[in-house]
Amino acid sequence: MSPPAHMVGNFAPVPTEATVTELPVTGAIPPELAGQYLRNGPNPRSDVPGHWFLGDGMVHGVRLEAGRAVWYRNRWVRTRAFTEGTERAAGTERPSDPLAATANTHVVRHAGRLLVLVESAQPYEITCDLDTVGPYDFGGRLRTPMTAHPKICPTTGELHFFGYGGVEPPFLTYHRAAADGRLILSRPVDVPAHTMMHDFSLTAGHVIFMDLPVVFDLTAVLSGGMPYRWSDTYQARLGVLRRDDPHGDVRWYHITPGFVFHTVNAHDDGDRVVVHVIRQAEAFRPDTPVAAPSLWRWTIDPTTGSVDEEQLDDRPTEFPRIDDRRTGLPTSHGYTVASAIPGRITEGPAVTRYDLRTGVPTVHQFPASQVPGEATFVPADDRPDGPGWLMTFVYDATRDASDLTILDAGDLGAKPVARIHLPQRVPFGFHGNWIPDTDGSDR
Ligand SMILES: [Fe+2]
Repeated sequence: MSPPAHMVGNFAPVPTEATVTELPVTGAIPPELAGQYLRNGPNPRSDVPGHWFLGDGMVHGVRLEAGRAVWYRNRWVRTRAFTEGTERAAGTERPSDPLAATANTHVVRHAGRLLVLVESAQPYEITCDLDTVGPYDFGGRLRTPMTAHPKICPTTGELHFFGYGGVEPPFLTYHRAAADGRLILSRPVDVPAHTMMHDFSLTAGHVIFMDLPVVFDLTAVLSGGMPYRWSDTYQARLGVLRRDDPHGDVRWYHITPGFVFHTVNAHDDGDRVVVHVIRQAEAFRPDTPVAAPSLWRWTIDPTTGSVDEEQLDDRPTEFPRIDDRRTGLPTSHGYTVASAIPGRITEGPAVTRYDLRTGVPTVHQFPASQVPGEATFVPADDRPDGPGWLMTFVYDATRDASDLTILDAGDLGAKPVARIHLPQRVPFGFHGNWIPDTDGSDR
């Protein structure tokens, strides 16, 4: 039997962990960049998972300093699922505990800790050299899984996040950690069912949850795939919670059925809440091609109790990022990728800068053989929403190799500022962050 698509080509895992210093570069690395670009993704060690989303997490990192690419490293995250993987390969069931994480989705720094995240489990902590420290549960306070898409408020330094899942209520819990990392708030949110909730939104005044019609399906668990299915009957809703009344009621708004993996950003506009998202018509409907995701804007109006839903551009795109220093605040631009997910490439691989007010895109087109991943915005100076670079791992099929590519975020028509040639390919993955050495705000 031929291997599944998520084990073929650059979806296939790499078999080894490498440490290579002084990498070759085409172009010039901006000398002011000092830190590490870290990116997480699935890299199954010994088994063939039932879905791309279910492989063991591996973090790939590149350290930049003084215009040099000092090192490349890749390391599996030593979760309990990973360390027991040999037994699993021999036929032992994956243990059902909160630390049996694949930890394959994101890597985020808050309060001096680097957390690797997958939404089905609790975090693991790693070092800047990608060694696993161990599980991290906020000093025993975190009792739920943790989303891989927490939000850091640039004003307060707080980490806002949620956990979801389970077979009985509460299916959703909202959490808030203070700037020093202490978990200071956990409250259940009443939703009718366990639905897939990959991301959420934060504004200066509100938290916005997406309760969408992709519901937990135990029969799918038994088949070894993702345990979720599209529902034609579940009501799609947005839930809005005031940040200054975190134990208060969540107000729910009905919206058109659809699914959102990723939000771009959100902000308050008077009484209204504006949310930019990458929306698709549906998801996880069995035997149905993946629906094309594109840029949408929701405007939630508490006066009318309704949501205005507006598609800003119809080009397929995903993996949105912003200047994270504008999280929850009005943002001029969002950065997305028009590739990296099978079946969604329509106009060739590209990194796109969207004007979030107008929806007008500016595109950096890659050759057809090159596939970029998520493009992380790296500030060039201390002006939020100002100049910066985009960092992304780009896989080149003609060489079966990957580069860390740096683009000028303000001049996407130009050729890359630098391409750092990596000693091995980096399999397609999910999310990452630039971790600067000088980081007073945990960005
Ligand atoms: Fe994600």
